[in-house]
Amino acid sequence: MSDSSNLPGQHGDGTGESRGAVDLSAGHHLEASPDRLPAHFPNPGLPPHQHRHGDDDPAAAKRYERQVASLFLMSMVATVLFAVAYFAIDDQSVITLPIIGNVLALHVALGVTLGLSLLGIGLGAVHWAKTLMSDEEVVEERHPQRSSEEDREGFVAILEEGAESSQIQRRPLIKYTLGGALGLFAIPLGLQLVGSLGPLPGNDLSTSLWDSRINGRKRRLVRDPEGTAIRLSDVTMGSVFHVLPEGIDETEQPLNEKVKASVLLVRLDEAKIKSARQRSWGIDGVVAYSKICTHVGCPVGLYEQQTHHLLCPCHQSTFDMTDDCKVIFGPAKRPLPQLKISVDGAGYLVADQGFAEPVGPSFWERG
Ligand code: FES
Repeated sequence: MSDSSNLPGQHGDGTGESRGAVDLSAGHHLEASPDRLPAHFPNPGLPPHQHRHGDDDPAAAKRYERQVASLFLMSMVATVLFAVAYFAIDDQSVITLPIIGNVLALHVALGVTLGLSLLGIGLGAVHWAKTLMSDEEVVEERHPQRSSEEDREGFVAILEEGAESSQIQRRPLIKYTLGGALGLFAIPLGLQLVGSLGPLPGNDLSTSLWDSRINGRKRRLVRDPEGTAIRLSDVTMGSVFHVLPEGIDETEQPLNEKVKASVLLVRLDEAKIKSARQRSWGIDGVVAYSKICTHVGCPVGLYEQQTHHLLCPCHQSTFDMTDDCKVIFGPAKRPLPQLKISVDGAGYLVADQGFAEPVGPSFWERG
């Protein structure tokens, strides 16, 4: 226990409340009293070195070396099994585990093998440090910015000393198995980063339901979600319609078919439309554009009537509807694709053809 005569009085925040203190040198908790706080806490330091068999027994050191190498080997085997499981196990296979119940076999296999792989590296490193590495305390003083040449040389010398102390040069079994374990561990990372990105879209984003006809005639534009057809006269100046193609059957068509075909329909003052193609692909100033943002695919749903700007709420890409929906702000790089529309014999808006460009974000094969 500390001598109370060595503990000068300190009164903290002046609230009169007493505070507890810990005497680290003795490991005891002092009674809460402002008069008994120590001036500073002693550095507990490292525990004293305890003799290990490997310190002076080459046979024991060799045994530890093999144990460490075995753990790194376990990691290597688990990593290889991870890669095998990634390709060999069907991603729909389900197994039943006690307590947990039904789970995908692939997830279990990847989790267990990746866990064992990391465990092998971790246990190997800890066992190596505890049995063979030096436990001398090394102190590096802080210094401003670039060190002096002398310090830099000293640092290199310390590194070399550390390498020597870890015995990595003298123990090739550990060196190579650790290299193998860490090197192979790049495989699961690479597989997850590259192999699990999903299939390339191919032609999928270049086509939509607007490309096909229904009962031999062009598809009408219908309100989302009501499904009612829209007449040209319904689209008054300033109004905005969220539109889908006629004939979407949600029980038959996958959700992405509906999403790909979603469109925003507005009426603009024809005199404000800057592009001749945009004008000719609309009718009387009524124009239709894909709602899928060309940045990363969020729905672009905020229309600003005064400026005729369309805003994507995800990352604030802004498209100018009077200028062929070109990007005027934000991370998107392409205009929104336009849908060419006209009016059928009954006065309803119809799509003449699908989008001229793929909808949504950029991708590698996009022309
Ligand atoms: S998805 Fe539209 S701005 Fe990012």
